[in-house]
Amino acid sequence: MAIIINKEDKTYTLVTKNTMYQMKVDELGVLEHTYYGAKMEYMDMHYGVECKFGTSFSPNPADYPKGEWAYSYNGLHQEMSCAGIGDFRLTAMGVRHSDGSFGVEPRFVSARAEKGKYALKDLPSFYGEEADTLVVTLKDNTNDVYFHLYYGVFEDYDLITRSIVVENKTGKSIKLEKAMTLTLDLPCGSYDMLYFHGRHTRERMLERTSIKHAETTVASMRGASSHMENPFAIICDKNANEDYGSAWGIGIVYSGNFQISASKNLQEKTRVVAGINPENFSFEVEPNGTFTCPEVAMVYSDSGFAKMSNSFHHAIRNNLCRGKFKNAVRPVLINNWEGTYFDFNADKLVSMAHEAKKMGVELFVMDDGWFGKRDNDRCALGDWIPNENKLQGTLPELARRINEEGMKFGIWFEPECISEDSDLYRAHPDYAFAMPNRAPQVSRNQYVLDFSRKEVVDNIYNQMVKVLDSANISYVKWDFNRHITDIYSVALPADKQGEVYHRYMLGVYDLLERITSRYPDILFESCSGGGGRFDMGMLYYMPQVWTSDNSDAIDRLKIQYGTSFAYPVSAMGAHVSVCPNHQNARVTPLKTRGNVAYFGTYGLELDVTKMTDEEKAEISRQIKEFKQYYELIQRGDYYRLISPFTPQESLYCAWEAVKPDGSEALVCAVRYETDASTAPEYVKLKGLCPNKLYRVNGSERKYLGAALMNIGILMEYDFFEYPSRLYHITLA
Ligand code: GLA
Repeated sequence: MAIIINKEDKTYTLVTKNTMYQMKVDELGVLEHTYYGAKMEYMDMHYGVECKFGTSFSPNPADYPKGEWAYSYNGLHQEMSCAGIGDFRLTAMGVRHSDGSFGVEPRFVSARAEKGKYALKDLPSFYGEEADTLVVTLKDNTNDVYFHLYYGVFEDYDLITRSIVVENKTGKSIKLEKAMTLTLDLPCGSYDMLYFHGRHTRERMLERTSIKHAETTVASMRGASSHMENPFAIICDKNANEDYGSAWGIGIVYSGNFQISASKNLQEKTRVVAGINPENFSFEVEPNGTFTCPEVAMVYSDSGFAKMSNSFHHAIRNNLCRGKFKNAVRPVLINNWEGTYFDFNADKLVSMAHEAKKMGVELFVMDDGWFGKRDNDRCALGDWIPNENKLQGTLPELARRINEEGMKFGIWFEPECISEDSDLYRAHPDYAFAMPNRAPQVSRNQYVLDFSRKEVVDNIYNQMVKVLDSANISYVKWDFNRHITDIYSVALPADKQGEVYHRYMLGVYDLLERITSRYPDILFESCSGGGGRFDMGMLYYMPQVWTSDNSDAIDRLKIQYGTSFAYPVSAMGAHVSVCPNHQNARVTPLKTRGNVAYFGTYGLELDVTKMTDEEKAEISRQIKEFKQYYELIQRGDYYRLISPFTPQESLYCAWEAVKPDGSEALVCAVRYETDASTAPEYVKLKGLCPNKLYRVNGSERKYLGAALMNIGILMEYDFFEYPSRLYHITLA
């Protein structure tokens, strides 16, 4: 068991392979956070957080220990920080009681350890029999409000998860005005935050900032995790890098409004809070009712970002993603979107499938435009009825035609949205979010369905089931092409409107759970205008995500590199598309487009019937090569070698997949800048066995692993724009 309960010290210690997390019940019964960092022998770490100085103007609780003038909620390292009573720092939990008073003072009640990982009601979370669970129950010292703090400990991955279930036993309704999951009080020191901002076609750009006294916040109020910010951040030492320094990775297993904030406080300590964004959030908990906070997942690394990323990658692949595809070899797919957009019929699709099959593609995906009268993006969302004119027959007939070409068949849905010009909207205008007496905002000509209402979710579920039952469908792309505004549900009273964003997410998760469990043989890919919902919540239901609507191989370097800090390569949808590229008009070699897509799910997104014979031969070669390296890339360890975010340091971006035992590696290096007078550049490898001999791409010469890691490989020079190389490293 990875949990040490020491009754004498009143400590609760979570232990993983390389890390340790400790909390302690103090003399007042407050649960203090004493340590999260590198593993060591057990000891009571409380001495490290005792707060004697720097707490001026910090009030004392009514029952504070005699003589301990510095004892204040405002100075304690707390496991769960609460607003309203004495803690003026960033806080996580805010409770309004039935009499209107605001604040709680949680004190320890009990704790228990269990074998296996806890599950959360109606919310995604990591799972695993091999994990351990600790539940610590606290209670407000005045009212019967209970907080059950859940901890999941995944020893092998150094992963610790947290959630809180708030239980109301006061006999009257209470209101949560803040229900963030994580409080993490770090020791004195100065830290940086790495976060991943962006926009459509430019997701997860890495930025690094210093955490100072002013709050640093990444957040979304878009009703989705969004392209603009990602619910993942790293807090690290000022000098931490890929291989050095303390780094705490924090990911929220949630796809809606979120917030991650950090700041230094009066004692120069850094506090981090993370969870549901408190803006326009409030949730009533009825007598005997509960509220569950979304899960937060944390990995600490004492040696930089690479180790932290690999822990997340393995944990996400094995203990967050579910279903038969999580570790299966997934089919190479072709998607018709960039090849045809809305302009297709069945014959066109079948001709594309026919050509693609010859190159080795295994799955044909029919994207947007197959339903209602949808020949453009101005209509028909909500009417999931195949357009038999366009499909030149029924949907099952089209699926059969594709199957007869030797290909599996997949289909696109956007279940959560509705066009004004749709039969569903004409019949049920109230199904779309809109505020009373205010015309709702349109975005891409569509509205968002009120999934906080079960009958709305049921309507879409029934429509989807009808389609999915009707034909031989092996894949679904689940899209979401706008953000939420006009949040208001006609089904809830005025004082419960603060619940709608979260209830919407619960509705989305409910639909996902029902659909994905009903169709275990379908591969689901999440999408939101590309990578607008690339988060751990979605990965629980769908093991891959369309990483970005930007398919340009050079822009993709930054996008996939940024994404890799939290998420595994096996989750990154990546396709080869046509040149000039549709998003930025860039022309890149077909080989480079392939090499970049290998470090993702690899597929095609173009009209294969328009390709030259030479291009078709290159794609056939790529599919064979991708399959050859599939296991290594998808299941190996992943290392970022040269960052595309530092052009002043290198003209290359490079990353590497390595077998965990160091016996084989594949490096991909892409030159993204041209230079008339190129200086030699070496790429230094990682993860090899220092004393073993290797060959590079079958070379005669043998190289010591240590040499490949300390000197590197000279990158060959190609005299054209955007060249790329793969280096296959094998034991000699
Ligand atoms: C989004 C997706 C695209 C495509 C279109 C269809 O933008 O990211 O891949 O499916 O919608 O409308």
